Amino acid sequence: MLPYTLVIQHAAQVLTLAGGPPDRPLAGPDLHHWTIIERGYVACQGDKIVAVGPMDELNLACITPETRLVDATGCVVMPGLVECHTHLVFGGNRAHEFERKLRGESYLDILASGGGILSTVRATRAASEDELLANALHHLDGFRRYGVTTLEAKSGYGLDRDTELRLVRVAREAGRRQPVRVVPTFLGAHVVPPEFKEAGPRAYVDFILREVLSDLKGEAAYVDIFCEEGAFPLEVARYFLEQAHKMGFGLKIHAEQLHDLGGCEMAAELGAASVDHCDYLTPAAAARIAQRSQGRTVAVLLPLVPLFLRQEKYAPGRAFIDNGLPVAVSTDFNPGSCPSKNLWLALSVACLKMGFTPQEAVAAATLNAAWAIGHAADCGSLEPGKRADILVLNVGSVAEIPYWLGENPVREVVLGGAMQ
Ligand code: NIG
Ligand code: FE
Repeated sequence: MLPYTLVIQHAAQVLTLAGGPPDRPLAGPDLHHWTIIERGYVACQGDKIVAVGPMDELNLACITPETRLVDATGCVVMPGLVECHTHLVFGGNRAHEFERKLRGESYLDILASGGGILSTVRATRAASEDELLANALHHLDGFRRYGVTTLEAKSGYGLDRDTELRLVRVAREAGRRQPVRVVPTFLGAHVVPPEFKEAGPRAYVDFILREVLSDLKGEAAYVDIFCEEGAFPLEVARYFLEQAHKMGFGLKIHAEQLHDLGGCEMAAELGAASVDHCDYLTPAAAARIAQRSQGRTVAVLLPLVPLFLRQEKYAPGRAFIDNGLPVAVSTDFNPGSCPSKNLWLALSVACLKMGFTPQEAVAAATLNAAWAIGHAADCGSLEPGKRADILVLNVGSVAEIPYWLGENPVREVVLGGAMQ
């Protein structure tokens, strides 16, 4: 037997997230029936987890003078957070619009007046590649301190060929320059750019399909589209996703954020890995999605967005879970609808406003988030064979995680077996 390189031991609780079905995300009761080990350990060899269990089963023969021992007495140990929906790469910020919003203007009104996403598009087009990279690295550093070890990064603030490709390139380069794994997604169909205002949404997605997607093979596994009033109508979104699917891309959608246009059900029928936002998705539609996708499409809920947009309506997460739909939780980090990287806060708000239990919230930001971005085989749980992305938290039980509202509970972050 090879010696262990790292052992995290004496944890008050090890939240393994193990014990669910091997081939699909956690749903229904499975969302809180995964295994919690009291007084446990996690052992690693190099960048992989090799053993997890109660302290009295720790194989002392594998511990050598070179093994790094971390004492987690009184602490929760859990998998690194998986942040499955961010708009990481952008120029500028929208603090000026925050003030407009506080005076009562709505998100879609600000967008219709040429601001919102379009104001970030102007700032992003004007920024150099180095500036965009520096910003992305700054934000990734913040995410890592919050215990995020894998992060999805969408493009979508370029809306022209060169800038969109630059955003994907910057996301990938940011992933190479620091240890948090970055998974790029192409959101060229975020809104219709000014250059296509006359020609319209269908002409713009035709342009993307024709001129941009072929250059993204191997660079981004998923495409995404914003299906909403003022962005892309349902039929254009369906056409775009169908064509992208034929080209071999995985599918995602921003839908039912501000209205119920039927985008989530449409995307799920096409086999989308995730449907994101879902604040206006009905429990009945959620049940149909769960059934037709055989529990494979994940609803990614973004509880900090309604909070920041001063919206009363939150996705009915409790009803989604009770109806069998797999759920994940993410920040949606972006300059317009969620300038926060605090995924822990998102978990608290998921409990307070969407009816999650603490166990469900933890599963939603680890294993189910990994399913939403196609990485469940290598992260999201503490199981032998997975990448050693592990957190030691300054709390003693899973119930405390969403309880300390707005705090960062992270004491240690282990990324690929290396203490940060
Ligand atoms: O996920 N809803 C659309 N897109 C982003 C917000 C982008 C922005 O406002 O800059 C979202 O909320
Ligand atoms: Fe988003």
